[in-house]
Amino acid sequence: MAISFEGQVAVVTGAGAGLGRAYALDLAKRGAKVVVNDLGGDPHGQGENRAAAQKVVDEIKEAGGEAVANFDSVADYDGGFNIVKTAIDNYGRLDVVICNAGILRDVAFHNMSEDDWDKVFAVHIKGSFTVLRAAWPVFRQQSYGRVVLTTSSSGIYGQFGQANYGAAKTAMLGLMNVLKQEGAKYNVMVNTVGPVAGTRLTQTVMPQEMVDRLKPEYVVPAVTYMVAKECTDSGLIIEAGAGNFNRAAIVKGPGLQPGLDDIKDAEWVQANWDKITSLEGAEPMWRTGQTLREHLAEKQAQG
Ligand SMILES: NC(=O)c1ccc[n+]([C@@H]2O[C@H](COP(=O)([O-])OP(=O)(O)OC[C@H]3O[C@@H](n4cnc5c(N)ncnc54)[C@H](O)[C@@H]3O)[C@@H](O)[C@H]2O)c1
Repeated sequence: MAISFEGQVAVVTGAGAGLGRAYALDLAKRGAKVVVNDLGGDPHGQGENRAAAQKVVDEIKEAGGEAVANFDSVADYDGGFNIVKTAIDNYGRLDVVICNAGILRDVAFHNMSEDDWDKVFAVHIKGSFTVLRAAWPVFRQQSYGRVVLTTSSSGIYGQFGQANYGAAKTAMLGLMNVLKQEGAKYNVMVNTVGPVAGTRLTQTVMPQEMVDRLKPEYVVPAVTYMVAKECTDSGLIIEAGAGNFNRAAIVKGPGLQPGLDDIKDAEWVQANWDKITSLEGAEPMWRTGQTLREHLAEKQAQG
């Protein structure tokens, strides 16, 4: 059956361009009323321009959908609340939040300024906090919510020159890992996309031919599914784009448990390094002390 967002309201941050725009268009096409948030700055986080968000709202309306623009910065605490207020004031509810707004300040670590670090963290990680902090009471009250955060291969695996961006993008995984637990009881599912697409952000690192080929639309299906009521998984990292869909995960290896009887020394660690570092039989975790496998079995037993 077709996935529908009829009667639902979605917030997409940074939806004035690139991936966010593509998510907003697909959700609106599927019946969602969409808050198109975008500050409209440049890829490095300078300036503001209302035209970006308004243009996407116009596009959605021309196609017969419903949308409203919001021009707040996600990096601003009150801005986050105002984005959620825009949804409630205009449409009376909120079901979906896609934290997508992003900037880049690439520079080798030895040249990275405090401002390069702070600005990137402000938009990506604080910018996800502000909007979700505002949305959370709404989700809890209605016992429903779907969230997609945005990470990057730069954070999951590492990319030269992106210490600020990679660290901020990995922080998204920490946020997801906690919110998936805090939201579980309230039917709030929190997942993370690791996209790859040709946009103005990647224009600086990809040849133009690749930018043209790797359309944001190749990422959209994964995100649309993860914010649909049909998706009842939480805490997953899904990489999507360029004709690929896969799951990435943080896993825990079996290691060695020598017990507390005698304290081991560094030579013992050295001698057992292969076993300690082995990922054979490694598993993803649901929370500290419980594997995802154990959690799912517990859920199934509870009916
Ligand atoms: N394109 C890729 O291959 C790729 C790869 C990994 C991760 N990402 C992530 O995907 C997301 C979307 O990136 P994109 O490639 O579409 O880039 P983009 O520059 O086309 O879109 C990002 C949008 O976020 C908006 N924005 C920036 N700061 C904002 C703020 N403070 N408040 C509100 N809006 C703000 C920008 O104005 C812009 O319209 C980002 O989080 C990015 O880090 C992209």
